[in-house]
Amino acid sequence: MAATVIDGKALAAECKARVAEEVKGLSGRPGLAVIIVGDDPASRTYVNSKRKDCAECGIYSEEYALPAETGQEGLLSVIQTLNGREDIDGILCQLPLPAGMGYDEEEVLLAIDPDKDVDGFHPVNVGRLSTGQKCFLPCTPAGVMEMLRAYGVDPEGKECVVIGRSNIVGKPMAMLLLAANGTVTVCHSRTPDLPAVCRRADILVSAVGRRGLVTADMVKEGAVVIDVAMNRDERGKLCGDVDYAAVAEKAAYITPVPGGVGPMTRAMLMVNTLEAARRHGK
Ligand code: GUN
Repeated sequence: MAATVIDGKALAAECKARVAEEVKGLSGRPGLAVIIVGDDPASRTYVNSKRKDCAECGIYSEEYALPAETGQEGLLSVIQTLNGREDIDGILCQLPLPAGMGYDEEEVLLAIDPDKDVDGFHPVNVGRLSTGQKCFLPCTPAGVMEMLRAYGVDPEGKECVVIGRSNIVGKPMAMLLLAANGTVTVCHSRTPDLPAVCRRADILVSAVGRRGLVTADMVKEGAVVIDVAMNRDERGKLCGDVDYAAVAEKAAYITPVPGGVGPMTRAMLMVNTLEAARRHGK
């Protein structure tokens, strides 16, 4: 039977509409500062989308487009200024930083005030997540959890397999599924017999960035398949890790690319910025 398609675009629109309503009820306007260093075209696209989302939600946004030559100290000084500003509730530094220019990503993430860390990448927020405390959740895995909830998929007691162990997606995804009482396995490039591990999954999340990685033979009949990746096919069309057409014949639920996890990631940034504004007494 063909899978139910999880409509991330529609869910994200609902989510942003809720944020916009709640923003109207605040005592002050939430503010998000987005920093982009260098001219990576994918990063530029993401940052443009964030500005558009903020406008839709009634969130004030400010962009810092810094030349690649700005340097670590210059970047840290922008962050420090933003940390001290009351009108700015959230700070996001678009990753990756330009390669080979001496940037230290860890130090940059550490410099952001954890209470303005709407990306959820600061080690304080990572620690809070892994110990079950209230924190900003990284937007992509938070968006995936929202999608599961919206479609009535409860991870409790389920075999959950996450492919990919990045700090941005794989690791926090595993933490959130674990917190929701799933039995979680994290796979990576050194995992022997990846197909066999994936076939155990009731919920399979792929976050690698390799087109064609997840084929139908790796998916259990009736599984929930979440595709986090954003790749391009040979014609330049957006696609994920999952062989969508074949897997959709076997899965119970599947996310498309585009129109799946991507829009939900963007919506979760708006949710986090609203939450940051609330924390700052707005
Ligand atoms: N680069 C790719 N995804 C993200 C994200 O969610 N946040 C930031 N800051 N950079 C990214």
